[in-house]
Amino acid sequence: MKLRWITGIMAALLISSCSAPDVAEEIALIPQVREITQQQGSYTIKANAVIGISDENLQPAATYLGAMLQLAKIEKGNADINLIVDGSLTNTDEYRLEINKSGITITGQSYRGVMLGIQTLRQLLPAEIEKKSVVNTKLVLPLVNISDHPREQWRGLMLDVSRHFFTPAEVKELLDIMALYKFNKFHWHLSDDQGWRIEIKKYPLLTEKGAFRKLNSQDRECMRMRKEQQNPDFDFPADRIKVVENDTIYGGFYTQEEIKDIVAYAGQRGIDVIPEIDMPGHFSAAIANYPYLACFNQAGWGHTFSAPICPGKDEVLEFCKDVYSEVFQLFPFEYVHLGADEVEKDNWKKCPNCQKRIKTEGLKDEFELQSWFVKSMEKFFNENGKKLLGWDEILEGGLSETATIMWWRSWVKDAVHRATAQGNNAVMAPNSYFYFDYAADVKTLQNVYSFNPELEGLSKEQFNKVLGLQANIWAEWIPSRERMQYMIFPRMTALAEVAWGTANPAEFENYRQRLVPHFNRWDIMNINYRIPDLEGFESKNVFIGSTDVTATCILPSVEIRYTTDGSVPTKESTLYTGPVNITETTTFTFRSFRKNGTADVPVKTEFVKQELAEPANVDKSTLKEGLQCKIYEKKYVNCENFTDGAKLLNTISVDKVAIPQGAKGWLGLEFDAYIEVPEDGIYSFALLSDDGSRLYINDYLVVDNDGAHGPRELSGQYAMKAGLHALKIHYFDGNNGGSLGLKVYSSSKQEVAVKYFH
Ligand code: ACM
Ligand code: ZN
Repeated sequence: MKLRWITGIMAALLISSCSAPDVAEEIALIPQVREITQQQGSYTIKANAVIGISDENLQPAATYLGAMLQLAKIEKGNADINLIVDGSLTNTDEYRLEINKSGITITGQSYRGVMLGIQTLRQLLPAEIEKKSVVNTKLVLPLVNISDHPREQWRGLMLDVSRHFFTPAEVKELLDIMALYKFNKFHWHLSDDQGWRIEIKKYPLLTEKGAFRKLNSQDRECMRMRKEQQNPDFDFPADRIKVVENDTIYGGFYTQEEIKDIVAYAGQRGIDVIPEIDMPGHFSAAIANYPYLACFNQAGWGHTFSAPICPGKDEVLEFCKDVYSEVFQLFPFEYVHLGADEVEKDNWKKCPNCQKRIKTEGLKDEFELQSWFVKSMEKFFNENGKKLLGWDEILEGGLSETATIMWWRSWVKDAVHRATAQGNNAVMAPNSYFYFDYAADVKTLQNVYSFNPELEGLSKEQFNKVLGLQANIWAEWIPSRERMQYMIFPRMTALAEVAWGTANPAEFENYRQRLVPHFNRWDIMNINYRIPDLEGFESKNVFIGSTDVTATCILPSVEIRYTTDGSVPTKESTLYTGPVNITETTTFTFRSFRKNGTADVPVKTEFVKQELAEPANVDKSTLKEGLQCKIYEKKYVNCENFTDGAKLLNTISVDKVAIPQGAKGWLGLEFDAYIEVPEDGIYSFALLSDDGSRLYINDYLVVDNDGAHGPRELSGQYAMKAGLHALKIHYFDGNNGGSLGLKVYSSSKQEVAVKYFH
């Protein structure tokens, strides 16, 4: 473990200590490679350079590289750029990349190893090679020696194409980007309640009808956000919409020929494709068109949760197997994903067929019925040479000895422990880190980068059963490729480095700096990334007298525009060129623009003019240390009217702002205390909560982090004199597990160890 960090750091040092002046850009590889040395000088790829391969099997890799470099000539044997497979390299998919005065050599332990080396070469080349048009840029490269290999053998991304559809071209674009960051597993969520996306020849209605639907509540939410944010990323691409008999219909699907083409495209790039036909739940796109699949011929078309299939009927199992028989033919990779998440089992309790199955199979309950179904399908998978993957719900009711779980429910903390303890493999996709459809904020990138797959309590043997890591992109509120890209860039690069095994969370800033030139590449690739957050201000700021307002972005190419009248900044609004001096309370709305003129979402920030607040007139010797915490129960959805209708469960004394041990459920916490600050000044308060919270000092609302949401930190400021000040915090959790914390910083950004009394 330690060695890994050291090589990462050494790599960074070596790069910075011997820069080569004639190389276009500094070396900034993501994921960071394990070992790199650099010599003075450079190598330029000639216009008539030849690619040499050691082995016919490398032809697709050479073709791929040739297309990138616009070189047509590929020969067996030695040439200017050599691709070699050398099975004697120790590590799976290890590769060496050597660029010297006479040429380039990529040696891979496998085909995939060679492709990984090609991606490192791609990142060393000028970003202009990403242009689709003829390249006029000189292809100058630094002289390097790289030795590299991945830690995780599973570096995955999942795309949900059911809730919203993505075209073959858009899927290929994603695969191209995945390859650039050395991902090697594409998990394709091809069916769900909102649409069936894969042609199955035996059951043509699945796509003829099941791939198309009337606009639903998820679509309407996209339209609402479109309007609220004035954000065209929420528009539905025209090719997915048609009007039939005055109804607007949304949909699309892949023919089997298109699937084969995409699988081959992925294969050339070293990416395996894992199809998922989600069952027994999330199946109403099929049930709507083949109603006998449900227990009661009752289709729940278009609902987010719906009736599952009926595992009590033999013909339903036949249907499932028929579908998978066709699926197996299209996907060569050994793993296939059965889904099996979030199954609503009420129907099974009432269904005579299900109850009969439970009886004849000697099962205890509906959980064991689900397990029986999964095991029956797994047997069929195995007979067809496939391995079964399922969401971590397949642990419930008994896991077979051979299935692989995909852990997604972060709150089921021991899922991986339980599966690997009994010898099963696991892939980690915990939603609190790797659900890229969740909104991103200032903390997201660092959160992804901080994930440590060596979970507490996992033995070395168990850890060896972890195949790797994956991010999921659910598409309920992602109707376009632009929105999809916005949600995954840049955070997929953080996962790339974590999965590769060269991420050091303590060196996050090193990664962040290395990331900067990648945005330039994405500009050329026309990728709709999330612009890094502006820096220099809090959500809510305070000043005394006058202040200089600053807004900066780590990306030099970003244009920042702003307004102070509450309107959304446009291309015509005032350009930020440096600190803006103010003497009165002012609300700024900043907005960042990409090179191509498109804008990110506006950011509002308030600068409030204050005087230093006088301390409270209380005698500290009459107070106890700590905070008073009242624990309430109520079906909270926000912090409004906090105690109205709430049941007071307990009043306790605590030493910090956190959820007291054992407090959970529909939870409200009210903290009351005096906070003691050591000197006069403007203090910053970072309030982290899941769900909502509010912080008041002397009845002034310093941080408003209210609403039902996941972990989110917001900061605000307050000016006060040294001494005691009355503090109040409201926090609630909507019965889904929470977190709460408060940090206090001085104006010089140092964390202050404040004291509380009550
Ligand atoms: C899932 O997010 N339902 C796997
Ligand atoms: Zn049934």
